Amino acid sequence: MKYLNVGLIGAGFMAKAHSIAYAGMPMFFWPAPAIPVKKMIADINEDAAREGAAKFSFESYTTNWKDIIENPDIDIVDICTPNNNHKEIAIAAAKAGKHILCEKPLAITAEEAREMYEAVRSSGVKAMVAYNYRRTPAVQLAKKYIEEGAIGDILDFRGTYLQDWSADPASPLSWRFQKKLCGSGALGDIGTHVVDMLRYLVGDFLQVNARTATYIQKRPIQSGLSDSLGNAKADLDTPTAPVDVDDQCCFMVQCASGAFGTIEATRNAWGRNNYITFEIHGSKGSIYFNYERRDELQVCFSGDPGDRRGYRTIYTGPPHPYGENLWPIPALGIGYTETKIIECYDFIRSITEDTQPSPSFYDGYAIELISDAVLRSAASRKWEDVQKM
Ligand SMILES: NC(=O)c1ccc[n+]([C@@H]2O[C@H](COP(=O)([O-])OP(=O)(O)OC[C@H]3O[C@@H](n4cnc5c(N)ncnc54)[C@H](O)[C@@H]3O)[C@@H](O)[C@H]2O)c1
Repeated sequence: MKYLNVGLIGAGFMAKAHSIAYAGMPMFFWPAPAIPVKKMIADINEDAAREGAAKFSFESYTTNWKDIIENPDIDIVDICTPNNNHKEIAIAAAKAGKHILCEKPLAITAEEAREMYEAVRSSGVKAMVAYNYRRTPAVQLAKKYIEEGAIGDILDFRGTYLQDWSADPASPLSWRFQKKLCGSGALGDIGTHVVDMLRYLVGDFLQVNARTATYIQKRPIQSGLSDSLGNAKADLDTPTAPVDVDDQCCFMVQCASGAFGTIEATRNAWGRNNYITFEIHGSKGSIYFNYERRDELQVCFSGDPGDRRGYRTIYTGPPHPYGENLWPIPALGIGYTETKIIECYDFIRSITEDTQPSPSFYDGYAIELISDAVLRSAASRKWEDVQKM
């Protein structure tokens, strides 16, 4: 059996998700392509690093991420820090010949993402961006139907990612509200997940026409680096500082294929917690996905007899993508963890089988070009081209 040693950087929310995936992957995907070994965890905050090692079962911890890069025993560098650190860590890891799993968005600008893409291309390491929602089996089933031509040519689409965790102005000013740390707000944090899924399903985006807004313009200053995602509320007398990123955005998309669509992302949608949806209309049918009911894909085929044509619900299970390895009957419940376990499996497999992982750093860069075009369009209030690569 092959083993691959993991060094994970940033011991917060994503460290938990990735650590569960490293432990769980061989339990679902057996024989595993290789067994990930949780070797070292790094966090700039020593308490977080120490606790992270204990909670997530890493053999050692450090407060300096460079210890992971310089450790010859580490095969994989897993980047789970806020967005502004991704570039420096990924380029150092690529130069050291380590494979890289990097959380999304890849970087805070397209220019940074391009440098990261070039670094992994010239070093030849495997590098994946952790857009995990596309690995939901129902989303993979949507991809299969589209590739098989089951809904014909794609005509138009709409995608949403709606949340409310920061709709309360008492949610503190974490790194997610500071441009120099995150790059953009709702757009980069959640909108890019929908961009990844729709670009994967409907093809390249050519032009966008966007509006963004920052509804809550000041927030209480947060102590500590980790983001509680709205679970820690500030006291009324806490000093505030400005928010300099969008908390809602909406844009139209023109695709290379001729299809067009709309994408919305907001963190101000009271009552919506993690409302990721897309609907795609084709010349021969339609597909609808709602992550709140992520075991299900809704499909409608125009070829069905008129008296029974309409959306039907497919519960994903053993006959569907990744299904044989997950749970033995449909509708037991696919969760966030399963998407991360599948991501881990595909990433490890790209290393052992020497194939290109997807979404690659090229895809991460392409998504940053779209984000940059969205921000340019919001400023110019005009259609903007997604820059050519
Ligand atoms: N794929 C997804 O669904 C998903 C979900 C949430 C977050 N993310 C992404 O994951 C990344 C991390 O987000 P999170 O929610 O886990 O953040 P978090 O705030 O929970 O944790 C970040 C951790 O990184 C540490 N850190 C900051 N700078 C560091 C440095 N220089 N060296 C070492 N540690 C450092 C902080 O102390 C903190 O413990 C972000 O890029 C975010 O966009 C992805």
